[in-house]
Amino acid sequence: MLTEQMRNILQQMPKAELHIHIEGSLEPELIFALAQRNGVSLAYASVDELRKAYDFTDLQSFLDIYYAGASVLLKEQDFYDMTAAYLARAQADNVRHAEIFFDPQTHTARGVPFETVINGIWRACQDSPVSATLIMCFLRHLPEDEALATLDEALPFRDKFIGVGLDSSERGHPPEKFCRVFERCRQLGLHLVAHAGEEGPPAYIETALDLLNVERIDHGVRCLEDADLTARLAREQVALTVCPLSNIKLRVFDKMDDHNLMRLLDAGLVVTINSDDPAYFGGYINENFFSTFDSLPLGVEHARTLARNSFSAAFLEGEAKRGYLNEVDRFFQQATATKD
Ligand code: HPA
Ligand code: ZN
Repeated sequence: MLTEQMRNILQQMPKAELHIHIEGSLEPELIFALAQRNGVSLAYASVDELRKAYDFTDLQSFLDIYYAGASVLLKEQDFYDMTAAYLARAQADNVRHAEIFFDPQTHTARGVPFETVINGIWRACQDSPVSATLIMCFLRHLPEDEALATLDEALPFRDKFIGVGLDSSERGHPPEKFCRVFERCRQLGLHLVAHAGEEGPPAYIETALDLLNVERIDHGVRCLEDADLTARLAREQVALTVCPLSNIKLRVFDKMDDHNLMRLLDAGLVVTINSDDPAYFGGYINENFFSTFDSLPLGVEHARTLARNSFSAAFLEGEAKRGYLNEVDRFFQQATATKD
């Protein structure tokens, strides 16, 4: 059960969000507004009808609707408006720092220039009081050559993103499909992450680490199926960006009571809580905290750990990272002092 006091702590604690697909923050209302602004026709008659279609059975059933929703994004201002709306929600949830995924191939395949995408998203980040950096994701259902071509398109904008990731349909598209492009990115000094062990097997987590050299694993919840891998992740303190509401909506777990987040923490893993695609999965980052703390036996010490982990695992430099961690420590000193 989530007490009022615990809810306030989760709401107010400073946090970083490390797993958010900006296209997954596109709310139905904004999809309809942009469709009208751009003269794009949608397969749904109303916001309500679109929302009703958000009844997913697995990752692919979600991705089909997610890519359809993104089809309304055409102009730089559209990407700006979407990102500004997310950052306003993040600020309301006391997110201090966000590392935002974007999927350029979803847009360039429709004829939207790469620069339109990145300039709109990046400008909104500059205009926000929330610290925000960008991670460009490659779509793993497409061939590696297309990822390499996307990297070439991105290079003139190298200063506008800090890393690369790997997303979209996981099963049948193992990390090793992208060895060459990730090696190039590593040589360019980019940070590396990949989705692995969401629907795919624990072996994908291992190959993401060993063959792509990623620094964090997105999702990674299936690691517990392999005891040696779990021990390794704990030993090497590899952060997992877990997305609880996403896991329930996409049926990785049947219900929140069954989620393994508590077991991941108990295994000594660097777990973080994130929203993934908040417009589609029923809530932004704080809703993810509320829901997990409501269903699992988590308390204030777990909240502190999760808040600290979010900054420890962030791609932040020494001073900034220390500053945020100090802010977390001060917050919990106060929160626990006033409690007694
Ligand atoms: N998994 C894989 N690809 C994605 C996701 C996800 O949860 N969200 C957006 N693209
Ligand atoms: Zn994701």
